[in-house]
This record gives sequence, C-alpha cells and structure tokens, in this order.
Amino acid sequence: KMSGKITREEEEEMREIFEKIDLDKNGFICDYELGELLREAGHPLPGFKVRDTLQKLDRNHDDKISFDEFLAVRKTLKGSQVAKTFRKVINRKEGILAIGGTSELSSEGTQHSYSEEERYAFVNWINTALEKDPDCQHVLAMDPNTDALFTALGDGIVLCKMINLSVPDTIDERTINKKKLTHFTTQENLNLALNSASAIGCHVVNIGALDLKEGKPHLVLGLLWQIIKIGLFADIELSRNEALAALLRDGETLEDLMKLSPEELLLRWANYHLENAGWKKINNFSSDISKITVIYLFLFQDSRAYFHILNQIAPKGTEDDHPRIDIDMSGFSERDDLKRAEAMLQQADRLGCRQFVTPTDVISGNPKLNLAFVANLFNKYPALTKPDNQDIDWGLLEGETREERTFRNWMNSLGVNPTVNHLYVDLQDAIVILQLYEKIKVPVDWNKVNKPPYPKLGTNMKKLENCNYAVDLGKSTKFSLVGIGGQDLNDGNATLTLALVWQLMRRYTLNVLEDLGDGEKANDDVIVKWVNKTLAEAGKSTKISSFKDKEICSSLAVLELIDAIQPGSINFELVKTGGLSEDDKLNNAKYAISMARKIGARVYALPEDLVEVKPKMVMTVFACLMGRGMKRV
Ligand SMILES: *[C@@H]1O[C@H](CO)[C@@H](O)[C@H](O)[C@H]1NC(C)=O
Ligand SMILES: *[C@@H]1O[C@H](CO)[C@@H](O)[C@H](O)[C@H]1NC(C)=O
Ligand SMILES: *[C@@H]1O[C@H](CO)[C@@H](O)[C@H](O)[C@H]1NC(C)=O
Ligand SMILES: *[C@@H]1O[C@H](CO)[C@@H](O)[C@H](O)[C@H]1NC(C)=O
Repeated sequence: KMSGKITREEEEEMREIFEKIDLDKNGFICDYELGELLREAGHPLPGFKVRDTLQKLDRNHDDKISFDEFLAVRKTLKGSQVAKTFRKVINRKEGILAIGGTSELSSEGTQHSYSEEERYAFVNWINTALEKDPDCQHVLAMDPNTDALFTALGDGIVLCKMINLSVPDTIDERTINKKKLTHFTTQENLNLALNSASAIGCHVVNIGALDLKEGKPHLVLGLLWQIIKIGLFADIELSRNEALAALLRDGETLEDLMKLSPEELLLRWANYHLENAGWKKINNFSSDISKITVIYLFLFQDSRAYFHILNQIAPKGTEDDHPRIDIDMSGFSERDDLKRAEAMLQQADRLGCRQFVTPTDVISGNPKLNLAFVANLFNKYPALTKPDNQDIDWGLLEGETREERTFRNWMNSLGVNPTVNHLYVDLQDAIVILQLYEKIKVPVDWNKVNKPPYPKLGTNMKKLENCNYAVDLGKSTKFSLVGIGGQDLNDGNATLTLALVWQLMRRYTLNVLEDLGDGEKANDDVIVKWVNKTLAEAGKSTKISSFKDKEICSSLAVLELIDAIQPGSINFELVKTGGLSEDDKLNNAKYAISMARKIGARVYALPEDLVEVKPKMVMTVFACLMGRGMKRV
C-alpha cells in the first residue's frame, strides 16, 4: 500500500477508535481523554507527559486533537502501522513518525515496504508446518533472517502445501509438479496455488504467477498472511467448536455469539481466561472495539496478560492426552519489558506455542503477529468447556453449507470490505452487495449509500435503506428478484439472500467470459454448445446435455475438456472409469477441480458439487474452463 493514502475502511476504523477515545463526544480528544486512554491501557503518565504527547499530534496548537489531526497521524504511516505509532506515543521516547523494522524496495517505480518481523515469523511457521514433508526438503528449512523465503516459494510447491494445510483437501497433491521443474511446470504450480488460494477466500486479484516467481516480498507476504490466517481462524467458529459457547455473557444468545468475527471471539476468549485469573478485567474500552490493532496493542504489550493466559490454559493433567505443565510465573515480576516478554515466550515454548512473535513483537504490539500468536494458543489449548445450560438453543448451530462457503470465498477473493465471515449477518447492510455490483460493472452511486459507523438510533433503518437500494439496482440489472425486498436482505433471509448472491456470481462469471469473447452475450446454451464442440473436436467421447446432466457426476466430461484445452495435461491413469463408487467419483472430482485450477481456470466450486451435480456450481466450472479455453486461441 502506498503511503499517504488511506482507504475508506481505514478511515472508518480510525473514526471508530477516535470516538472511543473522545469520552465526552465533543469531537475532540483533550488531554484528559488521552490520559484516560493511556491509564486504561496500563500506561499511566503524569499530566505533563500526557500534554507533551498531545502536543505532538496537535498540529494547529489548540490543545486538542481533531479527527483530521488524528487522521493525519495515520496518513503519514504506511499500511497498518497504526499500532506502532500508538505504541511510540505511549513509549514517549521517539517521535511518532519513525517506523522501525521495515525495508524499502522498489518495484516498477513504486515504493513497497515489507515487514521483516512478518518474514521471520512466517518462515518459522512454515519450517515447522512442513518440516516432515518430503516434497519440501529442497527448500526447507529456510533461514528466517534472510530473504530465502522469497526464492523458496518461487516454484509454488510450498504455497500449495500451505493452502492444503489451511483448508485440508483443497489441493489434490497429485496435481502438484514436484520433479525437474521447468519454466512451464513452475508456472502451472503457481497457477494452482493462486487459483486455490482464491477458492479458499484469499484476495489475490492483483497478484500474478510472475510476482510469486520473482518473489516480490510485499505480495508474497501478503498472500502468505492470508493463507496462514485462514488456517488459524478455521476453528474459531461455534459450529466447529461448541465449547466456544462458554464465552456467552449474561443475556446473550448463541446467535449473538455466532455473529462475532473470529477476531472478536479471540478477544472474548482472552478476556475469559484473564477474568478467571482474577487479572484486572480488560477495560470495556478495548473489549467493545472490534478492531484488532488497538486491542492487541493495549492488552498484551507488557506480557503480563499473556502470562496469565498461558497459566490458565496450560494442561492441568486432568485429561489423558496432555501431561500437566506448570507455567513458571517468576518472569512476571521482571522489571524489564523485553526480558519479561522473553520469559513469557519461554513458557509459551513449553506449551509448544512459541510461534509468530519475538519479544520485540510483543512489546511493539505488532497486531498481525500477536493476533496469530493468540489464535495459535487458542487452537492448541482452548481450555473451554461446553456449558450444559438448558437455555441454550443448540439447534441454531448449523455449520455453513458448501454453497454458502463458496459464495463467501468468492466475495472475499474479490476483496470486499469488510471481510465476510458470516454470509447473512455480514450482508445485512448491503455494503458488500453493493461492492459486488461494482465488480459486475453496475454503477453504484455511493452518495445514496449509508456507510458505517451507523448512528446509535435508527441503525437498522440506515441498513434497510441500503438493502432497498441493492434490490433496486438488481431490478434495473434485470435480475430475477420476484418476491425479494430490501427487508429480506436486512433480515438475513437465507433463501432470498442466496438468490440475489447467486445472480451476482453468475453475472460475474458470464462477464469474465464475455470480456474474452468480444462482448458477445454468454448464457448457459452458449457454454454447453462450446463444451460439446470442444470435446468433439478433440476426439473425446463425453458430452453434456445441460448442467444438470447426471453423467457429470463422474467428472469425466470435465477431465476430458481440460485435456482438450491443454492436450496431454490429464494423466488418464489416475482417472477412474466404468462403474464408479462414490469414492471413485470424489477422487475424479478432486483431480478435475485441481487440474482446472492448474491450467489457469479460477474455479470456486468444490469436488462435491461435481459429484452431486449441483447445476449452479457445475455451470461455473464449465464457464471458467470455457474462459480458459478461449484464451488459448
Ligand atoms: C493435502 O491433500 C491430500 C490430497 O491430495 C491429502 O491426502 C492430504 O491429507 C492433504 N494434506 C493436508 C495437510 O491437508
Ligand atoms: C465502561 O466505561 C465507562 C466510561 O469509562 C464507565 O462509565 C462504565 O462504568 C464502564 N462499564 C463497565 C461495565 O465497566
Ligand atoms: C424467507 O423468505 C421466504 C420467501 O418469502 C419465506 O418463505 C421464508 O419463510 C423466509 N425465511 C425466514 C427464515 O423468514
Ligand atoms: C450437447 O450434446 C448432447 C449430447 O449429444 C446433446 O443432447 C445436446 O443437444 C448438445 N447440446 C448443445 C447445446 O449442443
């Protein structure tokens, strides 16, 4: 990200933070409020020091900080360095503009910085995760202190493996080229990695295989973080871990808890253990900000909260699978921040959780890496017990369907803001839907859109207005929206929301095709004809009658089509034919989906969609392959 520019979302984030600090809501932060902030954050300062700090931010010398001044701090920084800035203010040592630990390198005349802390953390994580993988020994273990990472990832193998780890079974490993790599087979691996990353919801729109091959640090680290985060967050979800219901607060229902983002749930979790430890309850100031930067900065910097959490979650020896581990708390009273952080991490190490952060990262409050550290603690030792509360309606807990997940991953891969964690909840204000309209080239008049943060009163009305606008746009786009009103989106009605989202995704898929075919209208018929023709011209025996054709369950048509588009790409020895068992079908489908991605088709559908012949997803598979096939000529 370039310096000096901030996105709408970043501005909103800053607005939210600002409003939290501005206790009397007069639109300015005064010395009292800043002092309060620092005190609550566990860094009380004498009044004159607070005023000192304030003056650094106060550009027009009126002894208070306006939102613009507050924003100016952000604008002078690159990327998400805001936490570091805050820390510098709090540490009251350095000025606020210095940024530590980033390297500059130029590519195509643009300055990109990347974080050496991230590189260090990710390399260690990958080294551990793939330590025993025979296919990665040619590059492992990487030296975290050098740029080895960027070269090592250039052949795509490690990336594919990390994706498969984050969302198991995303990549059929039979499709990874492992031996005697050439320019072409490397390119294939990178296509496979990029298209698979996209299918699990990574935003990869501005990254190409060449960027990865050349090892452009900011792009490689950005992609890696997304892949790692998806893996770390996979189980921070109620339907995957019912014990999370232990985090319910008085008066809350399971539904309230289900609406929280993984970040918010993690914070809850940390708070839960801190409260049990009798440690000062984390002030309500941090707990109701959902943004991670500020939270992690204030919570964990001095390592004491971490010490308590480790002590709470360490196995007590009451379960068979883990022997008892007693956390040595002696480092807790260590005076020096750095030494205390190191002592804490040594205890984390005893739990097998010394990952992602160095003592310096703890002190500096690096938001990403501290988040990853906490998520990993949660995954290894959640230390929660599912409550046997009679009032909890467990029936609500249905995991998301495959279709919902595919839609969500599709949206996230297009970079919608905010990230969609829960399909219906996160679409209720239509902001994401409106962004999707823009992706299918339907102009959105953002002046007509209410944007968060919404006012306390009438929030729902503001969201409903957006939803109504989203439905109007759909009608003018000739979507079939019979019986769908803004209210249904606002209510999170599953059937009707899915109906709209599907039409958006279908339109998106067809647009991609039309762009390749000189704007010629594309529809199901055109695609089926093209598939039949391409198969026939390549001398293949399969054909399809429609996207509902039951024969598609064998995936043979897909596999032969791939081989028709890129002759010789399919290893037919791996393909099961004849009377197929369900396992055989799934095997073929996995091979087909990964191969489609490998030859360059951005397929979001899952193998099960082919086996069960889900017409919508089947349509997207053939449409993407047609797009790929047309690029050939
Ligand atoms: C990766 O994919 C293969 C299927 O090809 C699967 O057998 C393996 O378990 C996966 N690895 C992980 C870590 O999920
Ligand atoms: C939250 O903070 C406000 C203002 O600082 C205070 O008045 C209130 O009592 C706090 N609430 C809780 C639950 O701690
Ligand atoms: C969603 O809308 C459909 C169609 O109007 C309706 O039949 C269904 O009951 C609604 N679902 C919920 C949960 O309200
Ligand atoms: C494709 O082939 C099938 C099977 O021969 C045939 O029934 C169908 O009409 C063809 N579809 C198109 C659009 O050509």
